[in-house]
Amino acid sequence: MDPIVRHGGRTHCASPRHERPEGLGAQALHAVPSTLLIPLAARAGGGRNFPWLDCHDAHAAALLCGLGADSQPYLADGATVLNILWRTALLKTWGRAFFARHPDATGANLGCGLSTHFQWLDTGRNHWIDADLPEVAALRTALLPIQHPRWRNATVDLSQPGWWHTLGLPPQNSAQPVLLLLEGVLMYLEPAQAQAVLREFATEAPRGSLCLLDTLSHLAVGRAQHHPSVGPTGAQFRWGLHHPDELTAPHPRLQLQALRSVSECYGWAGWASETCWRPWLGAPLYGLALLGLDD
Ligand SMILES: C[S@@+](CC[C@H](N)C(=O)[O-])C[C@H]1O[C@@H](n2cnc3c(N)ncnc32)[C@H](O)[C@@H]1O
Repeated sequence: MDPIVRHGGRTHCASPRHERPEGLGAQALHAVPSTLLIPLAARAGGGRNFPWLDCHDAHAAALLCGLGADSQPYLADGATVLNILWRTALLKTWGRAFFARHPDATGANLGCGLSTHFQWLDTGRNHWIDADLPEVAALRTALLPIQHPRWRNATVDLSQPGWWHTLGLPPQNSAQPVLLLLEGVLMYLEPAQAQAVLREFATEAPRGSLCLLDTLSHLAVGRAQHHPSVGPTGAQFRWGLHHPDELTAPHPRLQLQALRSVSECYGWAGWASETCWRPWLGAPLYGLALLGLDD
């Protein structure tokens, strides 16, 4: 049974203007929350241009329609679409490997936007939490009213400490680890806030937990206005890496297990260009990191 309840066909695409809940739509979102449309559009339609990375998202297209959003401007930004489909593929691979080892564990996608990654990571036994700021949580409740014994929507503000307990995530002495997903979110926080999020994960998470997050080079900070998709939203990049060590600096328990660069999508030319620029970039221009715990 599909766990997402579609009241009156609300997420059906035929006439989204009439089916959108009143007061809720893409245009009602503030700058940073509105960036959720970028990955949503990529997962909905990006596979047409990049079929080898098509994530086959079962919900993204209907959600875009439910919002009344036009995906064409986002899909025209091919480099960003490629980044997002690449990271989705890697998140699926890393997530599935985690849940293969821990089929009863909990997954939490914070700053989840309108993503539904549990469609790919449900083991039939694990639990999943999708959480975002109140305005996005309200959208999720309207467009994705989930009825599932192991999957729930929640509200979170990662700029405030204490979210681990507020979300009811398993305590450090729990036998089951947690998979924490922070996708396209920490770069919008101030550096001290992003570091505090990683510190809270390190302080609270049970043994064996993993945190998957995407990272920017410090050279992108303050330059979101030049990004073809993020620029028009008015959101700004605030946290970027001068060196990969900054991912583990917030807490001695943090361990960098992998840091992949999107440049791998661009073949030999991408690798050569990033290698040349690395002394200035300090870290991948855009990367995906896997943080574990040193227990
Ligand atoms: C680029 S979107 C990514 C959405 C989703 N992770 C995805 O990949 O589809 C950024 C998301 O981060 C959320 N976000 C930004 N600041 C946040 C905060 N302080 N606490 C929780 N979520 C936040 C936004 O509301 C938005 O949904």
